[in-house]
Amino acid sequence: MATWIKQNCISFFQLFCIKVIKNGRVPQHLAFIMDGNRRYAKKLSVNCSAGHVKGFDKLSETLKWCLDLGIPEVTVYAFSIENYKRSTSEVDALMDLARDKFKRFLDEIDQINEWGVKLHIAGRLSLLPSDLQVILSKAMLATKNNNKLRLNIAYSYTGRDEISRAASHIVDSVQNNDLSPDDIDEDLITQTLDLGAPELLVRTSGEVRLSDFMLWQVSNTVLYFSDVLWPEFTIWNLLGAIIHFQRHAPPLPEEKENSPVQQKFLKKLENKKWQELEKIISF
Ligand code: FPP
Ligand code: MG
Repeated sequence: MATWIKQNCISFFQLFCIKVIKNGRVPQHLAFIMDGNRRYAKKLSVNCSAGHVKGFDKLSETLKWCLDLGIPEVTVYAFSIENYKRSTSEVDALMDLARDKFKRFLDEIDQINEWGVKLHIAGRLSLLPSDLQVILSKAMLATKNNNKLRLNIAYSYTGRDEISRAASHIVDSVQNNDLSPDDIDEDLITQTLDLGAPELLVRTSGEVRLSDFMLWQVSNTVLYFSDVLWPEFTIWNLLGAIIHFQRHAPPLPEEKENSPVQQKFLKKLENKKWQELEKIISF
C-alpha cells in the first residue's frame, strides 16, 4: 500500500468539486503549517506521538488532493528548529516517525517516481541524527529528476535560519569573487533560499502566527487560517482555502531574468548542494 500519497480517498462527488474549482486559478505553490497534532491526541486521550502519526496520514491524503487539483508544488512545515526544545521523548518519536516514513519512501521509490514526486528537504540537515541525514539525502537524490509534484518538507527549519544560510552563501561567493556586492539584489536573495514563494499558505488549529515559516517568501502570499486541527483537516477545508485564494489572489508577478554572473552563482550553489548530499550518503 502506498504510504506517501494515499490512494482511493476521493469520492466521485469530491472529484466533481475538484473539477469545478480547477476552472478558476489554482495556486501553483501551496504551503501548510500542519498544526494541532497534540491537541488532537489530547482530545482522543492518546499519546502525542499518535497525534503526529495521524498528522502524517493527513499529509499523505492532502498530497493526493493536491495532485488531483494539479498543484505542482507543496511545502509543509514538519519540524522546526524550535521543536528541538520539546521533550526528548517527543523529539525522539518525531525522528523515529521520519526514519520510518522516509525508509518507506525509498522502499516505494518506483511508485514515487511514477507519480513524478521530487522531494526537497529544506532546513539545517546537520542538526539531525546522522542516520536520518543519510536517509533524507538518499531520498532527495533518488527523486532528483522528477518534475510532476515538487514536495518540500521543512525539517529542522526556521525561516530566519534559512535567510542566514543564504546570506552566508552570498558572503562566501563575494569573498571568492564569484559575486560582487552590485550583483546582490532581492531576486538573488530569493533564489538563494531553500524554498520559493508560496501563492497560498494554510495554517490549521486556530493559531494565526507564522512561527518563523518562510518569512522572506510570504511577502505577497495569500494567508488562510483554519480552526480545524491538522489531523482533522478535510478536502472541504482545502477547497475552502482554494476558494479563499481565488477571491484574494494578487496578479501574477513579472518574471525577471538573472544576469550571467547571478546565473553562474546559482548554478554553482545548486551543484554544491547536490555534492553535499552525495558526500553524506558516501560515509
Ligand atoms: C504541529 O502540531 C506539528 C508538528 C510539530 C509536527 C508535524 C509533523 C507531522 C504532521 C508528521 C510529518 C512527518 C513526516 C515524516 C514528514 P503540534 O505538535 O504543535 O500540536 P499542538 O499545536 O496541538 O500542540
Ligand atoms: Mg502547535
